[in-house]
Amino acid sequence: MSGPSLDGQVALVTGGARGIGRAISERLAGLGAAVAIVDLDEPGARAAAEGLPRAVGLGADVGDYASTADAVDRAVRALGRIDVLVCNAGWDKMQPFLENEPALWDRLIAVNLLGVLNFCHRAVPHMVEGRSGRVVTVASDAGRAGSSGEAVYSACKGGVIAFTKALAREVARFGITANCVCPGPTDTPLLAEIRSEETGEKVIDAIVRATPLRRLARAEEIAEAVAFFAAGPAHVTGQVLSVSGGLTMAG
Ligand SMILES: NC(=O)c1ccc[n+]([C@@H]2O[C@H](COP(=O)([O-])OP(=O)(O)OC[C@H]3O[C@@H](n4cnc5c(N)ncnc54)[C@H](O)[C@@H]3O)[C@@H](O)[C@H]2O)c1
Repeated sequence: MSGPSLDGQVALVTGGARGIGRAISERLAGLGAAVAIVDLDEPGARAAAEGLPRAVGLGADVGDYASTADAVDRAVRALGRIDVLVCNAGWDKMQPFLENEPALWDRLIAVNLLGVLNFCHRAVPHMVEGRSGRVVTVASDAGRAGSSGEAVYSACKGGVIAFTKALAREVARFGITANCVCPGPTDTPLLAEIRSEETGEKVIDAIVRATPLRRLARAEEIAEAVAFFAAGPAHVTGQVLSVSGGLTMAG
């Protein structure tokens, strides 16, 4: 019996230049997919694509609708179609909510929430046309349980979870699934940046101590969960899977 495969399929991964998105791009390529890697860091996206058999690296800001539309068009021109969309790009800055400047909310909402809406709005029509497809969003356990110092980020990720479920309902009739992966603290450049902030080290250590498996996740472990939704059973939709060492255990 052969295992899951994405042979002949095309995946678009946002935020694929580094961290979790890069691991996802590598994992989906390993399953046989051609991959469009989209990132604000265009040279980084190109460099990540260079290591893969059939891939392109494209520069775009997921928080900007016109930039998203252009990236999706370029991906389809380069690779012919989109079968799998992974909305992974995200950004965070830890700070108590009462100390936030509203400008910070704008940036958090643009990247973490609008970025998902933008890409789904432009890429899912290509799946509707083909009457099949897989959408995988990357939210966070912060969106399930809340996380102090990340109030607006948590709100965005909670929004991504609810949006994924609603989208799953709307597009099921076209043979498209939508599921969400919620990483817990994961060893990536973003986490290293958070660690270097004022109370970052203390907060992350406290989270690891509260994690039953007592360690950070590896990016490859998050990528494995994304691959399950992208290439696994077609009858799974509207689901949320935490990969967080047991940090949250939803009922
Ligand atoms: N690392 C963690 O502990 C953790 C925990 C929970 C959830 N997550 C989520 O996982 C996803 C990936 O996080 P990561 O840790 O790999 O982060 P990372 O910062 O290491 O990588 C994120 C990538 O997204 C890109 N990006 C950021 N803003 C963008 C924009 N506006 N347009 C296009 N690309 C943009 C960055 O350039 C970068 O390449 C994010 O959605 C994040 O919220 C991460």
